[in-house]
Amino acid sequence: MKNRFKKIAALGLVAVMTLGLVGCGSKSSSDSDKDKDKSDKAKVGVSMPTKDLQRWNQDGSNIKKQLEKAGYTVDLQYANNDVNTQVSQLENMLSSGCKALVIAAIDGESLGTPLATAKEQDVKVIAYDRLIRNTDAVSYYTSFDNYKVGQAQGTYLKDTLKLDTEKGPFNIELFAGDPGDNNAQLFFNGAMDVLQPYIDKGVLVVQSKQTKFAQVATADWNTEKAQSRMEAIISSDYADKDLDAVMCSNDSTALGVENALASAYKGKYPLITGQDCDIANVKNLVKDKQAMDIFKDTRVLADQAVKMVNAVLKGEEPEVNDTKTYNNGKMVVPSYLCDIVTVSKDNYQKVLIDSGYYKEADLK
Ligand code: BGC
Repeated sequence: MKNRFKKIAALGLVAVMTLGLVGCGSKSSSDSDKDKDKSDKAKVGVSMPTKDLQRWNQDGSNIKKQLEKAGYTVDLQYANNDVNTQVSQLENMLSSGCKALVIAAIDGESLGTPLATAKEQDVKVIAYDRLIRNTDAVSYYTSFDNYKVGQAQGTYLKDTLKLDTEKGPFNIELFAGDPGDNNAQLFFNGAMDVLQPYIDKGVLVVQSKQTKFAQVATADWNTEKAQSRMEAIISSDYADKDLDAVMCSNDSTALGVENALASAYKGKYPLITGQDCDIANVKNLVKDKQAMDIFKDTRVLADQAVKMVNAVLKGEEPEVNDTKTYNNGKMVVPSYLCDIVTVSKDNYQKVLIDSGYYKEADLK
């Protein structure tokens, strides 16, 4: 039923976008080949994974606003976390004359076909937040340092539980992200590089024994899936034991864990990590239901993506700060990585409210 609905929605979208194409095709290809500057009122496609998560709504609208301010026309689409929908949205963007694409991939491995077309048509591709893998059609990548996000989560738990001096053992469970998202493995690796030595020494114990990425991954980063896995773990392993920490790679998985604890757990409340500073999670931070969060300023990321679009359409080179790390299997994608901030109850006011990211009232 859900798939059928998605198909109908996708067909509707194709129809709408095909109509859109009529108005867009006025510039002949020889016109656009005249010089390297393709920026003049060009149309830019922005492909976001889902509207389900607060951050992608912010990312999408920030990029759109800034591109429009710079004089571009923007086709912003959300793909409902469905790879086929994202592929067909990208195909439509290409056939309707977009000159650049900004893509946050649902599955980093699955965009080969539309991106091959993009390359043929000399359409520039910016990978946004998530690396797109196994293609040489990506011009640039902008994101946060994803390994560092995980490292910061692991370090917070290590420092707060004082793993170097306390013997424990402390019980911990692990919740990672979607296996198709290139970031998910990086977050997990960053966290586990800090935590694994303490698991090996027996200072940290994973009672569920679920420690491999494949065992702790959460399809679609889905809150309900994280919740039901946490509920199952509580009932099998924590009926008479305390849970000291849950390493959650992001806020949507943390929220699932927090919901499961609220409904099914009676013991001492654990430290929970997160990422994104979603409003629901910051509210939980204030109520001591989540210990930390990672703030990634999506305004700064959107700004970088817009700078990259501007540069590639003008035939210029945008600023990058990493030309080594992001090998996508076919090429090393030149990247610009933005800074992250670790947030707790102690500094959320300064980082999130004083910076104008949220208003006090948003968190009530
Ligand atoms: C992003 C996170 C986000 C997650 C789920 C990741 O690729 O970097 O910020 O929480 O996807 O959408």
